[in-house]
Amino acid sequence: MCGIVGYVGKQQAAPILLDGLAKLEYRGYDSAGIAVENGEGIHVVKAQGKLMVLREKVSHTTLSGTIGIGHTRWATHGAPSDVNSHPHLSGDGAVAVVHNGIIENYQQIKEELLAKGYVFHSETDSETVAHLLDDFLKQGYDFLESVFLMLDRIEGAYALEMICRQEPGTIIAARKNCPLVVGKGEGENYLASDVPALLHHTRDVYFLEDGEVAVVTAQQIHLFNHDRQEVHRDLFHVEWSVDAAEKGGYDHFMIKEIHEQPRIVEELFNHRVDLEKGDIRMEGIELTKETLEKLSRIYVVACGTAYHAGLYGKYLMEKICRIPVVADVASEFRYKAPILDEHTLVIVVSQSGETADTLEALRIAKRHHARVLAIVNTVGSSIAREADDVFYILAGPEISVASTKAFTAQALSLAMICCHMALELGRMTKEEFRTICQDWSAMPRQISELLKQSAIEEALAKKYAQSKNVFYIGRGLDYLVSMESSLKLKEIAYLHSEAYAAGELKHGPIAMIEDETLVIAMLTQKALYEKTLSNIKEVKARGAKVIAITMAGDTEAKKTVEDVIEIPQSSWMMAPLLANVTTQLFAYYVARELGTDIDQPRNLAKSVTVE
Ligand code: AGP
Repeated sequence: MCGIVGYVGKQQAAPILLDGLAKLEYRGYDSAGIAVENGEGIHVVKAQGKLMVLREKVSHTTLSGTIGIGHTRWATHGAPSDVNSHPHLSGDGAVAVVHNGIIENYQQIKEELLAKGYVFHSETDSETVAHLLDDFLKQGYDFLESVFLMLDRIEGAYALEMICRQEPGTIIAARKNCPLVVGKGEGENYLASDVPALLHHTRDVYFLEDGEVAVVTAQQIHLFNHDRQEVHRDLFHVEWSVDAAEKGGYDHFMIKEIHEQPRIVEELFNHRVDLEKGDIRMEGIELTKETLEKLSRIYVVACGTAYHAGLYGKYLMEKICRIPVVADVASEFRYKAPILDEHTLVIVVSQSGETADTLEALRIAKRHHARVLAIVNTVGSSIAREADDVFYILAGPEISVASTKAFTAQALSLAMICCHMALELGRMTKEEFRTICQDWSAMPRQISELLKQSAIEEALAKKYAQSKNVFYIGRGLDYLVSMESSLKLKEIAYLHSEAYAAGELKHGPIAMIEDETLVIAMLTQKALYEKTLSNIKEVKARGAKVIAITMAGDTEAKKTVEDVIEIPQSSWMMAPLLANVTTQLFAYYVARELGTDIDQPRNLAKSVTVE
């Protein structure tokens, strides 16, 4: 996610802002910028690329002033570019804004502001905030009231910092669902989206709560709640090391990213689901009834975890839309003879958007006139640029090599595309769609519940970390999620594990089952429950120890297996994704137990840009 810094005090702001942004580089970014106020006006310098490009640009200016805000951008709306970088200025430069998050209703506000004569320079949702704030200031409200009025209008997630010419010497910051910290110094104060950017200056901080607004001057920090009432809170003294602070206090990026899933699911849902219309916001992606009816088939092509998400998507599309879908790993697809023409839709899935095999599969598809839809996390990546259409999963930068939050967001994105196609084709009613939406909207809370009970996976990891062979089994979607669960255990714990369709065990792999073999069985699919339970009994009879992942309230499985992990009651479509969160946790704790390098597992790279 983007990084934010702010400074107000007695020193020159620019070097402090640049150093603060450098401390946030680990969050990932594609462009950066700073705004400094010096009594005569607000001066902005911004640049696409790494911080050194910005530093170079700054070195050619006389950016003096003792108050400023800074930002590293990880593109979500609009490609990485100078103009889309933050800070954004209002029309006459009266206001500068940096923003982390997504303004859901920016289009509507933008249209109103355009009608009032505001001119937009970037493609970002964030620029709307600058003009909207300016509009309230021009109506005569003071800085703080204008901020409150602006916050009343915007929907979505944000950490915002704003400065304005009218009230020099004050930074106002606000947060909702995106982190923001205010650091207290002596005659100078600091802001940042994360503690690491502050640690070299101060360890005394206020963590802003959702809905809170901070008014920060060199001498004072005032916090207000959403109802404009002042909030009094003790300063928090940070004891973390810089390394721990980068991980938000977690031991590893992987576990931090696992814990980000409730927020990411919520943001994706809010951004994509149009409850009023009863459809998915496809943002210009043309998957109309006419286009879909002309399709002879769909290919879903990806690698690793993204491929597993693709398998999940294939399953849903065939079951719900009744369109033939072939899922293939990109390294195979590119050397096969896939049947591609203008009646083929190729969906490529990639977190990084740079995976060489997936990129080549995309190029092959395009050469054969197939239409390519990319499901990507990284805006401006090669795959995003070369595809005909892009559906962003909005998961924020994933730093841990083992993909966790991206999988959940990819699978949900595919489910959303599937629902849109089914609605277009008349294979899903608005009523059915709304029921699915209810399940989606429950997911953030359900994932949070699972994360709260992670002591269960931790204890099981201790119990089973010495296993030599692990089998993940399941049927239907449970089988597909088993593959992802197995990959996670392999890649970070270096434990031999395999995923098998539960019904396939007796055709060979059951020969491997012996005393103490660990079998992790997924039982989230009610329609297939009895069948999988029989398979569990088969492996039990041959000495396996079994962990069952089943829905709350299931009393049957408990009678048969050693251990149970319960997930909240959910539908056939969503329950496997909840089950996957538990296996992410299990893999993480096993790896921790075995002392492996969790975020940088041996032999692996985050982005595989070679064949
Ligand atoms: C997953 O944990 C892996 N690191 C890996 O399988 C990854 O999903 C694969 O390399 C694809 O990467 P991409 O999504 O960036 O294309």
